Amino acid sequence: MVSLTSDMSPLHPDRNLALELVRATEAASIRAVPFIGRGDKEAADGAAVDAMRAFFSTVNFDGTIVIGEGEKDNAPMLFNGERVGSGRGPRCDVAVDPIDGTSLTAAGRQNALSVIAVSDHGTMLDASSVFYMDKLVTGPAGVGVVDIRLPIGENIRLLAKSLGKPVDEIVVSVLNRPRHEKLIAEIREAGAGTRLMSDGDVAGGINAARHNARTDMCVGIGGSPEGIVTACAIKALGGHIQGVLAPRDDEEKQKGIDAGLKVGGEVYEADDLVRGKNTIFVATGVTDGQLVQGVRREGDFVYTESVVLRGASGTLRRISSEHLTSKWL
Ligand code: FBP
Repeated sequence: MVSLTSDMSPLHPDRNLALELVRATEAASIRAVPFIGRGDKEAADGAAVDAMRAFFSTVNFDGTIVIGEGEKDNAPMLFNGERVGSGRGPRCDVAVDPIDGTSLTAAGRQNALSVIAVSDHGTMLDASSVFYMDKLVTGPAGVGVVDIRLPIGENIRLLAKSLGKPVDEIVVSVLNRPRHEKLIAEIREAGAGTRLMSDGDVAGGINAARHNARTDMCVGIGGSPEGIVTACAIKALGGHIQGVLAPRDDEEKQKGIDAGLKVGGEVYEADDLVRGKNTIFVATGVTDGQLVQGVRREGDFVYTESVVLRGASGTLRRISSEHLTSKWL
């Protein structure tokens, strides 16, 4: 049951913070507009990073970036460890992905999002030293049912049973990569369909966990940071998420060990990825997708669509905004 007093403490990320953070993802998406479909993913990302950072300074919270654009030397802004916010208000862990789907944005393809996730200070796993994570995401029907340790065919059968629908109606989304050739074949052999994503497994995971969505499960190896960000959203949707770090070589494996991460195939459960329920996930569409529409410029106005998910209340809110073009572009 939702506690009506749970938001009263200024020590924790609250609903007001969630709404404030949307301004930053909206800003990042709007600033990316001139770069959508223009073939320059770095420029798109750079514009989104600048915009997000500028808005952060106006938000009343004391955030530490746990998952950012990388190490300080390589990422001048929104780097891991950077303090963001006004410094007043709740102390939080922050994950940013100013654009998840920079290549999608550059190509003008669907499903690019601007994302921020926040949780109580000290609750987010810093998995940044290992680039990839194997993930299994479903909606509530998969909780206590599927398990990343099981073969994919078995998980598909278990989920179908729990959802009360035939296996041939199950749709599994997977990043379309050579590393997933065997996985994709196994999904199809099990009788399920695939939705192959060219990029953007944050949107893929959330879509799989949503009620009445067109996909039922999102699996495979994607970015570790994206896994943490997705976990913050899944908490609000009551879904299932597990991750297993997938180091690319021995050197990366050692880096993971040195950072205190589990790199020997151990499973990170939802609460290991981000502890507790007090998570906030906000995302604004950069390009059109199943979750939200992309940012759209029409004459005097720029239109954005965003979602705000709060773990504490288990809500997904949708925010449509109209912005005067003259203030932005
Ligand atoms: P970027 O926006 O940082 O390019 O990430 C896009 C993305 O598709 C993520 O959604 C996904 O987790 C990751 O890249 C997969 O990595 P790779 O493209 O190396 O397979």
